[in-house]
Amino acid sequence: MTYSRGAIVSLLIHTLLGAANVYQQSAMNVLQEFIMPFANQSFYDHYGVALTANGYSWLWSSLQSVQSVGIMISVFLFAPLMDNFGRRNTVMIFSSGIMLAGLIFQILAKSSNSFEMFGSGQFLCGVSQGSYRVLYQYFAESLPSEQRGRATLLYSFAMIVWTKLGIILAFPFFFGSEEQWPLYFAPGVLPCVLYVISAYFVPESPKYLYLHKKKVKEANEAIRYYYGKDADVASVLLNYDGEIFDESDKNKSTISLSTLLTNPIYRYALEVCLIANVGVHIQCSGALLMYSNGIMLQLGLSANEALTILLGSVIYVAAVSMFTAMIGVNRFGRVTLMNASNIMVAAAALLLGLQFALKSVVVMSHSMTFYFALTWGFFLLTSAGISAHSICILLIGEISPTIAAGKIVQLCTIASNGTSLLVNFTFPPLLEAFGSSLLFMYAGLAVACTILFRVGVPETKGKSVVEVIESKFRKTEPVFV
Ligand SMILES: *[C@@H]1O[C@H](CO)[C@@H](O)[C@H](O)[C@H]1NC(C)=O
Repeated sequence: MTYSRGAIVSLLIHTLLGAANVYQQSAMNVLQEFIMPFANQSFYDHYGVALTANGYSWLWSSLQSVQSVGIMISVFLFAPLMDNFGRRNTVMIFSSGIMLAGLIFQILAKSSNSFEMFGSGQFLCGVSQGSYRVLYQYFAESLPSEQRGRATLLYSFAMIVWTKLGIILAFPFFFGSEEQWPLYFAPGVLPCVLYVISAYFVPESPKYLYLHKKKVKEANEAIRYYYGKDADVASVLLNYDGEIFDESDKNKSTISLSTLLTNPIYRYALEVCLIANVGVHIQCSGALLMYSNGIMLQLGLSANEALTILLGSVIYVAAVSMFTAMIGVNRFGRVTLMNASNIMVAAAALLLGLQFALKSVVVMSHSMTFYFALTWGFFLLTSAGISAHSICILLIGEISPTIAAGKIVQLCTIASNGTSLLVNFTFPPLLEAFGSSLLFMYAGLAVACTILFRVGVPETKGKSVVEVIESKFRKTEPVFV
């Protein structure tokens, strides 16, 4: 498979600069011991109220969660923007502009003695983080079908690496101190500015240009950029034309919710995307990853052992994720990868459940506890490395007619965020109440999802949107190849 120069350059720009926004995601986690005293003091200076322990913990949890609120709000902001102003402008200009403002707010918050400013910065960066779904749509629409999967997963890999890099930057040696912590946000500024500037050099999604904006000449140039100089532009455009399943939608930039729900083709795309994006969050892998440290301690491992497993896991997840991006995604189909991830989660939940159950009837030796944790950890992390959630977002771009994509991205984001929030939020109390039964139930759910994916989700690897839709509705050979 050969890649055009444009495809490689744009991917590098997105992975290096776009991913820069994720490392500061963990700021409240890793710098909490410096940020909180500042916030508490600035609260006192502004409102004259000395916070009690209770008030202090409210302030803490508010600052901790304001970023998630931003991510949720971004759903309503980016869908209209991407349909009216384009995929590129939304990700590279609007979203990055918001992030830049957020970074500057966070850098200046301490010297302005304003925790409100810090909170606003966290919120804005949260909004900006939500835009990676638009970026995946942009990849799916711009790149030749055999390159989309790898590009998306490489980006996903870069995000994993950048997030972990944040932990290193929080060491006292760099920015982890009372004086230095505001500078933790500074390394993000330059990539952010460069990213906005580079929007000028990277073309918009050709499919968007052609179908939404009717800019044929620009679409031609964009296709040559992404597909290579000697691309068969006519056949690519012919394929785009095939996506106008309904002539009455031809001159619109987006469709209404009722059209989405009543037109059988749009509705089919929506259903498939919902199955995938909800199914991938309905099992407990997110919750297990989130609470794994606490669970290991609860099982009787020492803090050092838990930390060792955690550190090793970072390297292992990155390696699996790299392997999936470079080899796995082109060798196996989307559904196969999603199901492999599901089976891994089921195995992890089953083993952990078994460990909980055994622990209550026999005395487990310490080394046995350790090896048990290592085994379910292995399955859990393999599943995390496969990045099934990224594959499910990519799937939206591979199956949605471009006119419906904005709305479908929006609905899927709401549904998948809602599901994962519910699962993660209820996990600790439910585990407390039901113990191993809860884990066995989640293992069963993961297996059920595997069947659901096999039946309900078509394979999209290497196919165009038209081909996927046609194989469902006309039961004939694809017309355009
Ligand atoms: C928060 O600030 C107030 C006012 O300076 C102080 O009395 C209180 O001890 C602080 N709380 C904590 C947990 O540091």
